[in-house]
Amino acid sequence: MHILQATSEFFPFSKTGGLADMVAGLSGALAKKGSLLSVVTPLYRCVRSNYPKIKPWGDKFQLILGKKKTTGRFYTAKIGKGVNVYFVDCSKYYDRVGIYQESGNDYFDNPERYIFFSKSVLLLAKRLRRQPDILHCHDWQTGLIPLMNMQDKGLKSQTCLTIHNLAYQGVFDAKFFELTNLPQIFFKPVGIEFYGRINFLKAGIVFANKLTTVSPTYAKEILTEKFGEGLNGVVKNRKADLTGILNGADYLQWRTTKNKFLRSEFSAENLTGKYINKRLIRKELKLSSKDKGVPIYSFIGRLAHQKGIHLLLETLPHLLKKYNIHFILLGAGDPYLENQCGKIASQFPNQTRFITEYNESLAHRIKAGSDFLLMPSMYEPCGLNQMYALRYGTIPIVNSVGGLNDSIIDFKSNQFLGNGFKIVDIDKHSLLETIIRSLKLYSDRNLFNKMRKRVMKIDFSWDKSVNRYEEIYSDLKASQ
Ligand code: ADP
Ligand code: GLC
Repeated sequence: MHILQATSEFFPFSKTGGLADMVAGLSGALAKKGSLLSVVTPLYRCVRSNYPKIKPWGDKFQLILGKKKTTGRFYTAKIGKGVNVYFVDCSKYYDRVGIYQESGNDYFDNPERYIFFSKSVLLLAKRLRRQPDILHCHDWQTGLIPLMNMQDKGLKSQTCLTIHNLAYQGVFDAKFFELTNLPQIFFKPVGIEFYGRINFLKAGIVFANKLTTVSPTYAKEILTEKFGEGLNGVVKNRKADLTGILNGADYLQWRTTKNKFLRSEFSAENLTGKYINKRLIRKELKLSSKDKGVPIYSFIGRLAHQKGIHLLLETLPHLLKKYNIHFILLGAGDPYLENQCGKIASQFPNQTRFITEYNESLAHRIKAGSDFLLMPSMYEPCGLNQMYALRYGTIPIVNSVGGLNDSIIDFKSNQFLGNGFKIVDIDKHSLLETIIRSLKLYSDRNLFNKMRKRVMKIDFSWDKSVNRYEEIYSDLKASQ
């Protein structure tokens, strides 16, 4: 079977969050099981500068957006693992500082950038030696592809759309509809229209042959008003075709031995390297190392309301005043939240380090050097960070939503299987109370280390989830 993954981010070439990791992990796992695997993604500036060896593939092409013609070209790279990657080049759209935004502002022409990308994906599908059986789309940026595919007589592919985050829908002024060159009849409520505007993700939900999302709990949550982001009704109409599949973690990237980002190796059998990583991260971030026994709590992620960072900021002052703990935050995003983080950092300079940037290698070292990872997310479709943390012997403290609910078992309710701390009905009080619970466990070093060693062996690899995707692809192929 030939599968073409269409994605706006693909690790290691481009990444702002878990989407990039998920598509890379799934593609590698599918290829390993024998599928012919192609991936298509934009040729952003970061790709061009970090991977100068990628080569053009075929001649330049022209696509029509509305009435104007735009020129593009495909590039390609082989990344091993049997995955062929194709990049869509169009410098006026993708040769920019950021992927989606600059200085906190989304690019005004994002709809145009991803309509061009979507049309390029369909062109690629036709140009490939073997037409894809499945066109697997991810998130709003590729939401128009299922409808465009349906309208294209030259394509026989079936489509699957994965919703990684229902809150990001790609809603834009109706004037951009013209650039799709789709018949006006699709600009209606049972189509692309959404309160007079266009909604890319909604189009994908309505027209994809199959839908998936990234955890079983999130698949249920998005049917409700609380988590449905105004699209719960639309999702409900497609309930029969929706499956929740928990993402896997790529342990070739997230490993505690032979990892180029870590300065000391460790394992469930020998935690000595874990303590060295803890000492080294303190040194790297110039946190006092006088009291070796002080626990390190960390947060790594996009600074967005989703991640519950506002609750953390409300809880921290009390916690830092009362308890001798260290707190490290690595995250970039909302300028207001960045600013608030800065305020707390200056209030508690000896106990906190806030690094407001995107830094892949530092993310590994912080995870390896921490005792606890905080994920008080308001909602979390899957979450990969908690899985990475577990492999690094770092205990997650999570809100029981989405994939966090599906991957974490609370230590209090099950001392044998518990792999983290779960907050129920999250607010600043329950968050504080849960952190205090984790401190109690930390003070019992034997029990804590026993738990650490156990969670490091938990397997969240793609091996299980990849079968579920294969089943969906097979069903689609059978219905062709
Ligand atoms: P989301 O996709 O919602 O951002 P996930 O937990 O699925 O959440 O994935 C987040 C991924 O992004 C992880 O690999 C995490 O390490 C990474 N990440 C997020 N923010 C940063 C940052 N500032 N620096 C480095 N890595 C980051
Ligand atoms: C989204 C979600 C996150 C998920 C990731 C990969 O960014 O916010 O929970 O892990 O996609 O599917």
